[in-house]
Amino acid sequence: MNRFSLVLSSSVVALASSATMSFAGEKVTLYCSAQEDWCQVMARGFEEESGIKVNMTRKSSGETFAQIKAESANPKGDVWWGGTGDPHLQAAEEGLTTPYVTPMRGELNGWAISQAKSAGDKTIGIYSGALGYGYNSELLAAAGLAAPSCWKDLLKPEYKGHVQMANPNSSGTAYTTLATIIQLFGEEGGFDFMKGLHKNINQYTKSGSAPIKAAARGETTIGIVFMHDAVKQAVKGFPITVVAPCEGTGYEIGSMSIIEGSRNLENAQKFYDWALTADVQSMALQVNAFQVPSNMGAETSPSAPDLASIKLIDYDFTLYGSSAERKRLLKKWDEDVSVLPQ
Ligand code: G6P
Repeated sequence: MNRFSLVLSSSVVALASSATMSFAGEKVTLYCSAQEDWCQVMARGFEEESGIKVNMTRKSSGETFAQIKAESANPKGDVWWGGTGDPHLQAAEEGLTTPYVTPMRGELNGWAISQAKSAGDKTIGIYSGALGYGYNSELLAAAGLAAPSCWKDLLKPEYKGHVQMANPNSSGTAYTTLATIIQLFGEEGGFDFMKGLHKNINQYTKSGSAPIKAAARGETTIGIVFMHDAVKQAVKGFPITVVAPCEGTGYEIGSMSIIEGSRNLENAQKFYDWALTADVQSMALQVNAFQVPSNMGAETSPSAPDLASIKLIDYDFTLYGSSAERKRLLKKWDEDVSVLPQ
């Protein structure tokens, strides 16, 4: 063995043993339903700080709910971080998640705590953000279309094939859209709206933020998403204009829950407490995640949508996060809307 390979092999051994030592067999399995880049920051950040290995997978809110339910006889996940609050509330009601009262509560906004209280401490708010849509102003101009500013504008026949949203079964963003439209226009009016919108939809995506990423790339003109997801594309330099619809809009309380039957419960609780600290929530800005953080001391960006200036509805989380209502509405959407010709 020459000198170079000797040095190399001993440093490889040193590296390998330091990696094993730093993780020391400790691990936590994280199901993440926020944006992939933010999920990575959370997973790597916790590994670095705690020495606990994080096995992270990103899936949309509705998909993660379904996965946790399917695995409930033999749970594989420990913590579910991020994604809209409704499926977290449904998981709590169905006994798929477990109560935990974090010592971090004193640092959190009231809306984060109400989420916990309404679910017997089985979930908690980590961020909040308003729903809306964004459009690619260059594509809009090229197609000679007027700029939309209301929900009802999206029903205009000239927008046919120009609007994209996610599927409410897989995506929490799209379920929030369905629940918001019903709260704004009533059950019948809301479903009529969804049927009219269906005629203009070019694709129902799996993930909630996909439509605005597609708009940024020039693949669709309009994407129905959380406003902060649209701002993220605008900040990256894409020609995206963000709309807070004129009728008012719904919002999410992005949530976190510990999975019932977690095999690494102590590590799950460590991650949970860590994720609620101001410093960790401020890390969102590294990846342009512009939600409102639940920790009152966390930083927000001047680019973040100002919720105080947006006309928000009094979103009924108890009703729309209940198991019976979420199942009923999704079934109705599947049967009455998604099957219609376009
Ligand atoms: C994006 C948003 C989050 C939201 C999540 C829901 O990542 O930035 O605020 O909670 O979408 O994802 P989903 O794919 O379930 O709609």
